[in-house]
Amino acid sequence: MFSAVANTVVGGAGATAARGVLAVTRRLGGTALPTRLAVRCASNAAAAPSLHGLLGDDADVTVASVKEYYGKVLKASSDLKTSACTSIAAPAPMVAEALKKVPKGVSERFYGCGVPLPLGIDGLHVLDLGSGSGRDCYVAAALVGPSGSVTGIDMTAEQLDVARAHVDEYAETLGWRPNLKFVEGQIEHIADAGVADGSVDLVISNCVVNLSPAKDAVLRGAYNALRDGGEMYFSDVYASRRLPREAVQHEVLWGECLAGALYTGDFVRLCRDVGFTDPRVLSTEKIEVTDPELADVCGEAQFYSITYRLFKLPAGVLETECEDYGQVAVYNGGIPGHRHRYELDDHHVFEAGRPMLVCGNTASMVGETWLSPYFTVHGDRSTHFGLFDCGPAPGSAAPSAASASAGACDVGGSVLGGGSCC
Ligand SMILES: C[S@@+](CC[C@H](N)C(=O)[O-])C[C@H]1O[C@@H](n2cnc3c(N)ncnc32)[C@H](O)[C@@H]1O
Repeated sequence: MFSAVANTVVGGAGATAARGVLAVTRRLGGTALPTRLAVRCASNAAAAPSLHGLLGDDADVTVASVKEYYGKVLKASSDLKTSACTSIAAPAPMVAEALKKVPKGVSERFYGCGVPLPLGIDGLHVLDLGSGSGRDCYVAAALVGPSGSVTGIDMTAEQLDVARAHVDEYAETLGWRPNLKFVEGQIEHIADAGVADGSVDLVISNCVVNLSPAKDAVLRGAYNALRDGGEMYFSDVYASRRLPREAVQHEVLWGECLAGALYTGDFVRLCRDVGFTDPRVLSTEKIEVTDPELADVCGEAQFYSITYRLFKLPAGVLETECEDYGQVAVYNGGIPGHRHRYELDDHHVFEAGRPMLVCGNTASMVGETWLSPYFTVHGDRSTHFGLFDCGPAPGSAAPSAASASAGACDVGGSVLGGGSCC
């Protein structure tokens, strides 16, 4: 099973030890999509002894290693060693149309694991954490239109160069100049990169937070940057448990977005610490690590690409449990691409015009955020009827792998996916 290698994963100077072959299978909607990929998975001890063994422990080493990987090692999406960092989920038709207009030089360097691109964001100010070559920023710039703006932040010069190089070409394609800029900075210190507190409506990110050695700083910075009523809507890789030390320090697993994956339970706790009190799962895809060697390193941990929605509302509005105030929310339609239904999360699907009983948190998420122009909420919190009776909304999508494993009602955070009970 061992094969010769042609490259190294981190560093690169002279490391040539062969380690193995990785096969990863991703599963979407029950369909297995096997992609057996040759992995040039080299021990780097000889090439960069000062780095070896410190990944995941030392923040500076981790950041330097990630920068090296995305700046020097990877040149195109096809260079990825596993499919964990690339999304196979079909984007919404409107997003798919917008993607066709993104310059090829940008889209062929896409390393995301989801589609964190909500519709109905005309005029919003968007911030993309770890924008890479900028694919999501380019699409978001088209979606927010001339009255909105998009800022991508990334620490890797080579990625920023690609992102900046195609803006003129894109303006020609669109027929108008998008408000699109790319700034150099670390996502743990976005204020230092010029992002003012309360200046952003929507924070997006695609397969990046897992790479950060200080995820609390990333979430706190995003929270501060958002205005009240704003949202962090992002895709990332998560694990079903805390990973063994051997996995956390594994170079290929780190660079390919698996070693830094947070255990979902820890992620939910972190969200609540920061102020994102009720994280909602929008979609979940299982990532299969089928290579025996890497699977062995990961033990029994399962990996998922999850798109979360984290709403920022004034302190105290979002509660840790779903409470029943007898409120009803109606989706009025109007979000492009969502004429008949709107999916707030993986168990709240609003049919246009149809009143739906919701908990206090959900009422606030649709009635007091950037979504409010599209919803009408009846009732307030003046009378409390107890805990909200949780369960999938009528007509909602089939339970995801995450919610299925957690059960329909798991007050205080599900086993995987987290968030509150409804
Ligand atoms: C997996 S790629 C994803 C890029 C982009 N979001 C996409 O979907 O194509 C990770 C990106 O995050 C950037 N990155 C990783 N850690 C970072 C950090 N701490 N601060 C800023 N950028 C970071 C890397 O430079 C790289 O461009």
